[in-house]
Amino acid sequence: MNSPDTPQMIVLIGLMGSGKTTVGRALAKRLKLVFSDSDDAVEKIAKRSVREIFENQGEDIFRKLESQALVELCDAKSPTVLAVAGGAIISQSNRDLLQKNAKCIVWLDAPTPTLISRTGRGKHRPLLDGDPVGSLNKMRLDREPLYQSLATHHLVTQSQTIDEVVERIISLCSLQTNGLSLTESSENGAVR
Ligand code: S3P
Repeated sequence: MNSPDTPQMIVLIGLMGSGKTTVGRALAKRLKLVFSDSDDAVEKIAKRSVREIFENQGEDIFRKLESQALVELCDAKSPTVLAVAGGAIISQSNRDLLQKNAKCIVWLDAPTPTLISRTGRGKHRPLLDGDPVGSLNKMRLDREPLYQSLATHHLVTQSQTIDEVVERIISLCSLQTNGLSLTESSENGAVR
């Protein structure tokens, strides 16, 4: 039985285009849990799109809103699958918050060309407007140590289907699939 203090979140982190939202939504559906996405929460708080926030208020304000959104999301009363936008882990306090509240933190990763082909579909990524390959390569260099330090599991995806990635996360995190709680089904099989 989970105590009220038991972390109730499965957290997905990784660069833009790594599949956090797509996989997170499918994982939540499979586990019958709530799905949340930090960019959606930011847009709800700000009542404007991520792109509008970047363009009108700048990245610093976006990052403040992002931290606020994470505090609210980590206060969720129901077990949640949380997709955390790529840059949120830059902040130490965001990292501490996620570490405190997550049952497991999965770093979704993919080669840069794969990220590029996926990010073409999102309008909420102004940081990729100019030189997406150069920007993503720089972000990879800057952020990889942070993803690494935070993640309980690292999963490189390229040709797997969404369902395959979902099943892999369920297995890596030893999750039960009855949708009642985030208790473990067996000994936690964390690998790094
Ligand atoms: C960003 C990632 C985006 C969005 C914004 C900035 C980043 O979210 O928050 O464009 O700095 O990596 P996704 O990771 O969901 O694409």
